[in-house]
Amino acid sequence: MSLKIGILLGSTRPGRNGEPVAKWVYELAAQRTGAEFELVDIAEFNLPHLDEAMPPSMGQYALPHTKAWAQKIASFDGFIFVTPEYNHSTSGALKNAIDFLYGEWNNKAAGFVSYGSVGGTRAVEHLRLIMSELQVATVRAQVALSLFTDFENFSAFRPGEHQRQALDAVLDQVISWSGALRSVRAAG
Ligand SMILES: Cc1cc2nc3c(=O)[nH]c(=O)nc-3n(C[C@H](O)[C@H](O)[C@H](O)COP(=O)(O)O)c2cc1C
Repeated sequence: MSLKIGILLGSTRPGRNGEPVAKWVYELAAQRTGAEFELVDIAEFNLPHLDEAMPPSMGQYALPHTKAWAQKIASFDGFIFVTPEYNHSTSGALKNAIDFLYGEWNNKAAGFVSYGSVGGTRAVEHLRLIMSELQVATVRAQVALSLFTDFENFSAFRPGEHQRQALDAVLDQVISWSGALRSVRAAG
């Protein structure tokens, strides 16, 4: 079975810059033959603030929105998080969506595409810590898009040519590690 990698759009704001960025990631990723990619917009899952009574690590989800989100995340072998930087971290919406689940993240791989005034790098450093608690292996390669040079007027997305190479490196590493970690999950 071919590898499935989810491109998770982590901002929900009307007019968000995240949407063209995630589409750019998807369009380049879809040209790859080593894996299938799917664009997942967390806004479409309408997740409230975490409202499950049981801890996610128990895997006993009671609510329909959690079950739908869990089913989607369980279907992937790896992830590419597209994240904004809000107050030196990721978005609250993405953190909440991550917190909803546990086992569905475990023993998978992830890479990051971030954007912000300094490339969203502080958001990604936080995400790497969060991922380690969820047993997600995060790859070194990263795309860090600058609001000053990869967007016109901080809003029209015009990535520099070098960003395509950076994304290629993220895709290479996420595909490789997603494949490797499948055997870890298979071994139980
Ligand atoms: C609540 C909020 C906090 C922000 N904090 C930061 C920040 O700490 N560092 C930064 O580089 N940009 C910051 N920004 C700018 C965002 O990175 C920029 O607006 C980006 O486009 C947000 O992503 P979005 O358009 O997908 O929502 C902030 C924006 C918002 C809305």
